[in-house]
Amino acid sequence: MAQLRGEERARYVSRMFGCISQRYDLLNTVMTGGMHYAWRRLAAYTAVGSGLTGAALDVACGTGDFAFDVARKPNIEGVVGLDFVPQMLTLARGKASRQKLSARTTFTVGDAHALPFTDDSFICATVGFGVRNFIDVPHALSEMARVVQPGGRVVVLEIVRMEDGGLHRRVLPWCFQKVAPILGALLAGDGEAYSYLPQSVDEFLSARQLVEVLEGAGLKNVRRRSLALGMVAIVSGEVPASLRES
Ligand SMILES: C[S@@+](CC[C@H](N)C(=O)[O-])C[C@H]1O[C@@H](n2cnc3c(N)ncnc32)[C@H](O)[C@@H]1O
Repeated sequence: MAQLRGEERARYVSRMFGCISQRYDLLNTVMTGGMHYAWRRLAAYTAVGSGLTGAALDVACGTGDFAFDVARKPNIEGVVGLDFVPQMLTLARGKASRQKLSARTTFTVGDAHALPFTDDSFICATVGFGVRNFIDVPHALSEMARVVQPGGRVVVLEIVRMEDGGLHRRVLPWCFQKVAPILGALLAGDGEAYSYLPQSVDEFLSARQLVEVLEGAGLKNVRRRSLALGMVAIVSGEVPASLRES
């Protein structure tokens, strides 16, 4: 896939996720050895840790797994999952019903860069494996900060570009680049979509840079936690009251 920018990239990403939606969960499980569930649970725990009670937002929710983890937390009164691919949301609604979470989750079509919510609507906003696809990451994260009330958290779970260091930092991305398209072709019938995956990681930020973007969005107490030998990170920050004053 050639390097795509702006609206062209957004169109490619939305078409691609529409095509692979039916196989998305299976591929996640195969490619992470099932670890993606534990990563989201950990990130959900971080998101609700402010002690506030109220509604939560999960941006780029896909088939809903992150939203479901947040919805199960006792201080969460309901979760809105937002994604710009309707096929993903249809799957999310079906899963919510099977997991008896329909009353606690709502799924809506929307773009992460223009969230259709007023300021301070949520006590936390999460995004799992979505930020990498955004065309303007600082803007989308500022949008997430805008809709979270002061004291609440914005949490990003993402595959990040590995920073220079030990041998594994070169070997793991190389393996990922080779294996992802093969699995994509075999299990989703779409090798190209799964060539996009390692390429998007390659073009993405490191965890350290992601921290800087959250700080740039005005968040305080920004923290990062590395998972999977540094290939995955949870980066979180708190919305300060001063963000509303500026
Ligand atoms: C890799 S999937 C992640 C899904 C889910 N969050 C998870 O943890 O499995 C990325 C999702 O981001 C969505 N997405 C990408 N760009 C988006 C945007 N600008 N606005 C809304 N959704 C977006 C895609 O449609 C896709 O469902």
